[in-house]
Amino acid sequence: MLSLHDKTIAITGASGGIGEATARLLARRGAAVVLAARRGERVDAIARDIREEGGRAATCVVDVTKAEDLRRLVSATVDEYGRIDVLVNNAGVAPISPLADLDTEGWSAMIDVNLRGMLNCVAAALPVFHEQGSGHLVSIVSVAGLTTSPSMAVYAATKNAVRTVHEGLRKESTDGVVRTTAISPGYVRTELADSMTDPHIRDVTRKNMDAMGISPEAVARAVAFAVEQPQDVEIGEINVRPTVQG
Ligand SMILES: NC(=O)c1ccc[n+]([C@@H]2O[C@H](COP(=O)([O-])OP(=O)(O)OC[C@H]3O[C@@H](n4cnc5c(N)ncnc54)[C@H](OP(=O)(O)O)[C@@H]3O)[C@@H](O)[C@H]2O)c1
Repeated sequence: MLSLHDKTIAITGASGGIGEATARLLARRGAAVVLAARRGERVDAIARDIREEGGRAATCVVDVTKAEDLRRLVSATVDEYGRIDVLVNNAGVAPISPLADLDTEGWSAMIDVNLRGMLNCVAAALPVFHEQGSGHLVSIVSVAGLTTSPSMAVYAATKNAVRTVHEGLRKESTDGVVRTTAISPGYVRTELADSMTDPHIRDVTRKNMDAMGISPEAVARAVAFAVEQPQDVEIGEINVRPTVQG
C-alpha cells in the first residue's frame, strides 16, 4: 500500500455515506482531508473524530450548486494545508421518478447538484491544479449510467454527463498535470434514499440497499486505490457493485 501522507484531499458530500467513509479512510491512511457539505455541524463532528484518532481534518460549509462555494473550498484547502492534490466530487442527490411524472423540480435538482456541482469543482480546481503542476479530480458517478432502468433516466443522464466531462478533461490533459477518475457504485448502504421524493421509489430503494447494499467503505477503498497511484498512472474508471447485484 502506498502512503497518502503527502496528499491533501478535499471531499464534497462528506457529511455522511460515501463522502464520510472516504474522508475517514483517507485520513487513516495519512492524507490531510477537508470535509465539505451543507450540514456544517455534521462535517465538524466527523472532522473532530478524525483528529481525535490522530488524523488531519478541516471542514468547509459548501453548497456545490454555487460556484463561489467550490472556489472557497479550494482556497480554504490551500490556505490550511498548502495545496490541494485531490478533489473528490462526491455530493449527489437522486430524486428519481418515471419521466411521465414530469418532476421537473427533481430533474433540476439532479442537474444542479450532480452535473453543475461537478462543473463547479472543475472551474474551482483546474486553475490551481495547473499552478501546482498536478491535481486529481475523482467523481462518484453510478452504475445507473452504465445501464439505465425505469425511473433512473435523468439521474443516469447527469452521471453520464459527468463521465463525459471526465473523458473530455482526460483528453485535454495530455501534459500530465491533471488526472481524472470516475467511480461507479452500485447499491451502497447510505442515506441517498432520503433525497428521493416518491415514497414508493424511496421504500423500494431502501429495501434494496438494506438487502444487498455494500458498505460505503467499499467505495472509499476504490477512491484510495485511485489516489494512491503515482503521478504517471491514471485510473480512469472503477465499477464497485454488490456481488449479488444484477
Ligand atoms: N448509495 C448508493 O447506492 C449510490 C450508488 C451510486 C452512486 N451514488 C453516488 O454517491 C454519491 C454519495 O452519495 P451517498 O450514497 O453517500 O448519499 P448520502 O448519504 O445521501 O450523501 C450525499 C451527500 O451529498 C451531500 N450533498 C447533497 N446536496 C448537496 C449540495 N447541494 N451541496 C453540498 N453537498 C450536498 C450531502 O450533504 P449535505 O446534505 O450535508 O449537504 C451528503 O453528504 C452521490 O453522488 C450518489 O449519487 C450512491
